[in-house]
Amino acid sequence: MSRELNKVAVTIPPSSTMAINAKANQMIADGENILKFGIGEPDFNTPENVKAAGKKAIDDNRSKYTPAAGIPALKNAIIEKLKRENGLEYTPKEVIVSNGGKHSLYNIMIALLNPGDEVIIPIPAWISYKEQVTLAGGKSVFVETDEAFKISAEKVAESVSERTKAIIINSPSNPTGATIEESELRAIAELAVEKGFYIISDEVYEKFVYGGRKFISTASLSEEVKELTLTCNAVSKTYAMTGWRIGYTAGNEAVIKAMGNVQSHSTSNPCSIAQYAAIEAFNGQQNSVGEMIKQFDDRRQYVFKHLNEIEGIKLVEPEGAFYAFPDVSGVFNEKVKGSVEFCDLMLQEAKVALVPGKDFGSDNHIRFSYASSMDDIKEGIERISEAVGMIGK
Ligand SMILES: Cc1ncc(COP(=O)(O)O)c(C=O)c1O
Repeated sequence: MSRELNKVAVTIPPSSTMAINAKANQMIADGENILKFGIGEPDFNTPENVKAAGKKAIDDNRSKYTPAAGIPALKNAIIEKLKRENGLEYTPKEVIVSNGGKHSLYNIMIALLNPGDEVIIPIPAWISYKEQVTLAGGKSVFVETDEAFKISAEKVAESVSERTKAIIINSPSNPTGATIEESELRAIAELAVEKGFYIISDEVYEKFVYGGRKFISTASLSEEVKELTLTCNAVSKTYAMTGWRIGYTAGNEAVIKAMGNVQSHSTSNPCSIAQYAAIEAFNGQQNSVGEMIKQFDDRRQYVFKHLNEIEGIKLVEPEGAFYAFPDVSGVFNEKVKGSVEFCDLMLQEAKVALVPGKDFGSDNHIRFSYASSMDDIKEGIERISEAVGMIGK
């Protein structure tokens, strides 16, 4: 008999983004005027037509269990979306709906990884990838990107081993806002085909690309690439539906089946009401998406210009998502030695919540989410500028 907890579960740290948000919320509850640039969710409401579909699903008593991998009508809406927007053809057996993009990715890791299998993660990267790989018994192999956060296929090739099971591609990226160059994506995809490893393509920010850039869905590169690619996406960001918890994966039938088995014994189906709302998100009018993208782009340009005007802060132009990932190491000194101290200072002195880059894989950077109103962004950057001016004085 032993009361010892699972070794992995006790060592996995909680999400630092959520921790910062909780701290900021507590300070707000205590009456402080905190501006939040920490959390990664649109500050817009779910579109009215989607909310109405959710309400109708409740009134129609869509309140029973559904098939564990999602209702056929939602799978069809996803299949149509992938065909219309990404040029990809899938059958219902090649699609699974899960409880948000994070759950989709977790199920992928559980379905793919055997103990010691390696997953290549270009860094800086979203915090949960490495923890999910660990939870699934795998090993993360990190590949550094360049100063503009661009992934090099050559560097990826150097990190491939006998144990490589998959690579994660997240373009546009959380936390950097960078996109992958088409040439590098093609070269990585060719490498995956040659060596026979999977590509986990996390496309949750696909709509948020700016400045005339074009999003490329990895699986659309060729039939051979599609066979090895697990395309993961969600309604969370595109339709401002983070709380509804609907994500999905499309890919090889055997992998999707394994994911379905895992899901059927762990969470069962995603929320039935949310599934009906998601059908409307895919099939209904898309105006709200365009409006949201336009506002994010205006904010992106403002943030890019004005953060760069602060002495000691350097920001590469963010190309997508809704994050800026400035290098703040120019203001480090004896007291502020890294991104965690920097963010602590900003929260205490400037009353601004940011996320340290350390957990994403770079202690010289911090993440600024511009999913906040323009007024808050203007005020926030002024506060950061003032607080940075005080450092070292
Ligand atoms: C890169 C990335 N992938 C996946 C997700 C998961 O999204 P959700 O589980 O909210 O659908 C997030 C959310 O922050 C993300 O930033």
